[in-house]
Amino acid sequence: SDQKTLYGKITFTMIKPGERNQENIGPILTKITENGFRIEAMKLVKLRTKQAEVFYSHLSDKPFYNDLVKYMTSGPVLAMILEKENAVSDFRVLIGDTDPTKAKEGTIRNLYAESLQKNAIHGSDSDENAALEAGFFFSTSERYNKNGECFLKDT
Ligand code: PPS
Repeated sequence: SDQKTLYGKITFTMIKPGERNQENIGPILTKITENGFRIEAMKLVKLRTKQAEVFYSHLSDKPFYNDLVKYMTSGPVLAMILEKENAVSDFRVLIGDTDPTKAKEGTIRNLYAESLQKNAIHGSDSDENAALEAGFFFSTSERYNKNGECFLKDT
């Protein structure tokens, strides 16, 4: 299917909650599209606690897990599927280190993150997780290819 052929060519991202991130949505989107990522799907959604717990379940043994879940459910996130060759690794370069004090100059987190927790944006860490995270947020009918066609074919 179309989605199988996109394996390795998509990443999942969300602009995290908070007033500062909300104000910076425009500039962050500009950075993303200027760097060659095409938006395949996008929506503003507030996660339920259960959903955030599942999304971050791989971090459930971390001391910051409860705070992370609380923060990620404190307001809406702007969730997106982005398409580009080498999307996962190129996007991680564009967003910079998780810790904004270590993020390289000009990266999204260097420019817009407030702290390790409020680090502006999420990016998938592998092709496998990108596919899982994309599927967690979006149905096939909410995804569009380069021609603007929905991945769900008319029958
Ligand atoms: S780890 O420990 O290496 O697995 O974690 P890391 O990949 O650096 O970060 C995973 C996500 O957890 C968030 N994080 C934190 N939140 C709150 N407090 C602290 N101390 C903290 N450390 C990491 C971090 O923002 C990552 O979120 P995502 O959505 O994956 O970017």
